[in-house]
Amino acid sequence: MNNFVFHNPTKLIFGKDQIKNLSSEIAAKNAKNILLVYGGGSIKKNGLYKKIIDELKDFKIFELDGVEPNPRVTTAQKGADLIKRNNIDFVLAVGGGSVIDCAKLIVVAAHYDGPAWDIVIGKHIPTKATPFGTILTIAATGSEMNSGSVITNLESQQKIGWGSSLVYPTFSILDPVYTYTLPKNQTVNGIVDMMSHIIEQYFNEADNSDVHDAMMEGLLRQIIHYGPIVLENPEDYTARANIMMSGTIALNGQMRWGYIGDWASHGLEHALSAVFDIAHAEGLAIIMPNWMKYIMPKHSAKFKKFAVNVFDVKVEEKTDETIALEGINKLQNFWKSIGAPITLAEKNIKESDIKTILQAIHKELGRMEILTIEDCEKIYKLSL
Ligand code: NZQ
Ligand code: ZN
Repeated sequence: MNNFVFHNPTKLIFGKDQIKNLSSEIAAKNAKNILLVYGGGSIKKNGLYKKIIDELKDFKIFELDGVEPNPRVTTAQKGADLIKRNNIDFVLAVGGGSVIDCAKLIVVAAHYDGPAWDIVIGKHIPTKATPFGTILTIAATGSEMNSGSVITNLESQQKIGWGSSLVYPTFSILDPVYTYTLPKNQTVNGIVDMMSHIIEQYFNEADNSDVHDAMMEGLLRQIIHYGPIVLENPEDYTARANIMMSGTIALNGQMRWGYIGDWASHGLEHALSAVFDIAHAEGLAIIMPNWMKYIMPKHSAKFKKFAVNVFDVKVEEKTDETIALEGINKLQNFWKSIGAPITLAEKNIKESDIKTILQAIHKELGRMEILTIEDCEKIYKLSL
């Protein structure tokens, strides 16, 4: 295990009606002009927009709406330009990972004279950010409490993750009630995404991550318990709260002390959704079990541990590989049972598309197991 420093400055404000703290949190930053960033309109339909406007009556509000799922660099550029033109001193992102990721790029691109994309590809390292906060409306990515962002460039067919310690949100308000209105498929996407984040870190490059393994096994078991409950009853507060908390814990840096995690499935998925614009979690549900099957023979002891401790696979007289495979199949069946796709065919992606998807992979993938481009091709083929 590597040495590490853990410092997460985001203030988490969790629970029912916590929006009452919004204006005081922003006032504490001495802000006057706010850029409100949101998506395609769900916050207008469910009344959250009106609540925010009421809360922020003492501030001047500018708006950037229409942030796309898989947020585009062009939208972030628009937001950065708005900040430059209007003397905006605080950004409030209201939505899911897409809106928050877009806001992260906006707040640093506003202090750079070149194109926002330079920041995503590492050509410009940001040095300053407009402070920003979030109100989360979907439990999924963990973006509300981390310093990462994933941005799509349709022109170059790239979807790239980047990060900076400048883009931790100042605060994030997490009210599980705001997730009641999620369509079923988005709740499913969130469950798959947070589980996949834990799995990416569980299968890591460290020689010992026992403490974290136990925490991650527990987290996965709770998501497997509460996931079907929220799907059955979308207004079950306890279940929504547990799912929301799990999504944040899964990717706020806490689960990777001393290692990074494998993250090949995310790389394979980002290439997929760069080309096909499918939901991030749909791609993960399809790819991750096949990535697991592909690398499992080289790491069967760890996969056995996963199968036994997360899915209660019985050891009996079986080989490690048999136990490991049972665990992977149980994961895939769980995702299928809650309504996630598990084959590329379900998203109309064919074998002849694989060449194009491979071209969207721009860096080496994997840490527990480094993948060659041939390995990637085989995993996509297994996923057909
Ligand atoms: O746009 P609106 O109308 O708001 O609708 C959204 C969107 O269509 C809807 N939605 C959100 N909250 C809702 C709601 N509908 C009704 N009621 C609510 N309460 O849900 C749809 C999906 O939203 P999105 O923000 O795209 O979902 P998610 O949070 O899953 O974010 C996905 C993006 O995050 C990236 C993904 O690649 C993808 O681009 N990721 C970001 C990460 C990070 N920053 O750490 C890590 C992840 O692995 C991931 O890659
Ligand atoms: Zn993810």
